[in-house]
Amino acid sequence: MRILFAASEAVPFAKTGGLADVIGSLPKELIRQGLDVRVILPKYGDIPAVYQEAMTSVAVFDVYVGWRRQYIGIEVLQHDGVTFYFVDNEYYFKRTGLYGFGDEAERFAFFCRGVIEALPILDFQPDVIHCHDWQTGMIPVLLKAHYSHLPFFHQIRTIATIHNLKYQGVFSQTVLKDLLGLSEDHFTGLALELHGGASFLKGGLLYADRITTVSQTYAEEIQTPYYGEYLDSLLRHRSHQLTGIVNGIDYEVFDPLTDPYLVVNYRDSLPKKQENKLALQERFGLPIDGHVPMIALVTRLVQQKGLDLIQHVLSEILSLDIQLVVLGTGEASYEQMFREAARTHPDKVSAQLTFNEALAHQIYAASDLFLMPSQFEPCGIGQLIALRYRSVPIVRETGGLKDTVQPYNEFVGDGTGFTFSHYNAHDMLHTLRRALFFYKNDREAWLRIQQNMKKGDFSWKKSAQQYVALYKETMND
Ligand code: GLC
Repeated sequence: MRILFAASEAVPFAKTGGLADVIGSLPKELIRQGLDVRVILPKYGDIPAVYQEAMTSVAVFDVYVGWRRQYIGIEVLQHDGVTFYFVDNEYYFKRTGLYGFGDEAERFAFFCRGVIEALPILDFQPDVIHCHDWQTGMIPVLLKAHYSHLPFFHQIRTIATIHNLKYQGVFSQTVLKDLLGLSEDHFTGLALELHGGASFLKGGLLYADRITTVSQTYAEEIQTPYYGEYLDSLLRHRSHQLTGIVNGIDYEVFDPLTDPYLVVNYRDSLPKKQENKLALQERFGLPIDGHVPMIALVTRLVQQKGLDLIQHVLSEILSLDIQLVVLGTGEASYEQMFREAARTHPDKVSAQLTFNEALAHQIYAASDLFLMPSQFEPCGIGQLIALRYRSVPIVRETGGLKDTVQPYNEFVGDGTGFTFSHYNAHDMLHTLRRALFFYKNDREAWLRIQQNMKKGDFSWKKSAQQYVALYKETMND
């Protein structure tokens, strides 16, 4: 089976969010399971020089973007056993940052076209093009409109995976008509039209042979108006071709037993885990105390992640006997909130308003509790890492959080974390207090939760098998 992943980011080349973790790790597992999986990405100027220097050019041709003919180079790099192709055009991609430019529609229209046209030139004929998020949403549309009558493309199937329905790639219809060379009937409400413009994501959701998203619960939620971002009726309409497959994490990268960033490696030993806490307290200038529960928040500081709930009850949280360690960047008001909290409560709060991979690993290892009260969460990766690093998650029951964290039940002893259902600050606070109660007063319960976490498997193995089954099904359509 030959699969091409088309995406706009992948670890270790370019990352703004969880998408990059998925594209950087799932292909490895699929290859382990015997598939020929290759990945194609834009060649951003931001990709670290070590990788750029190691790339070799395999093709150079021109691609039409509207009436313009644009240069396109394809470069290749083997990384960790995976073939990565990079679409090179310095005018579009040699910039600082990945997204947020005025010509976004054109950059990704170019990318989508380039991906398709590169295939015969690379002599790679995938069975499935697996498209991720809005940036690649026009691939299924263009394939059906312009290419599928050609023998080379005839059998190629497409899958569109939603990592976050909120980002839809909506642009002016005039611009897209010019760029994509699609007829008028592609721009009606039943086709690409959305909010008066036209949407890349909607294109993927309508024209791909199958749709997936990154958890079972999110697959159900997005068929309702609350989570559906105005696409719920389309998703209900296609519900038979929509499946949820939960993300895994790279078990080699995220392994507290071998993690090179940790002060002390461990797997199941709480005393060893605690040495990481003491080291972090020292480093951040917090009181050095093994008993005080450390709560971690490792996240982009945006509304989606439930930051407004925290804002609402922050003073109550700070009145508890805890330490709060925050790592991440995001909206200025949230950054300010934590900066202020660290200033007024230097003995309780450490605000690391940056992103730093090593520090992230150290915080997962050091913390006792991991807070993730998201408003919505397609899958979520932080809680999976937390489970593996035995930092007990406190999450809202939504999307992938609901599917991966089982609520602790003191009567039967099962569960791997603490959960609440309504998007309500006091429900979150209550749940946090409940977790702290067990941490402080019921050692046995705490050890039980640790045991339960140990049993979970959040590697890619099972999910990759589900993708393989889905690829087969799609090929037999
Ligand atoms: C997006 C989602 C997140 C998911 C990730 C990878 O970042 O917000 O929930 O884990 O994509 O699929």
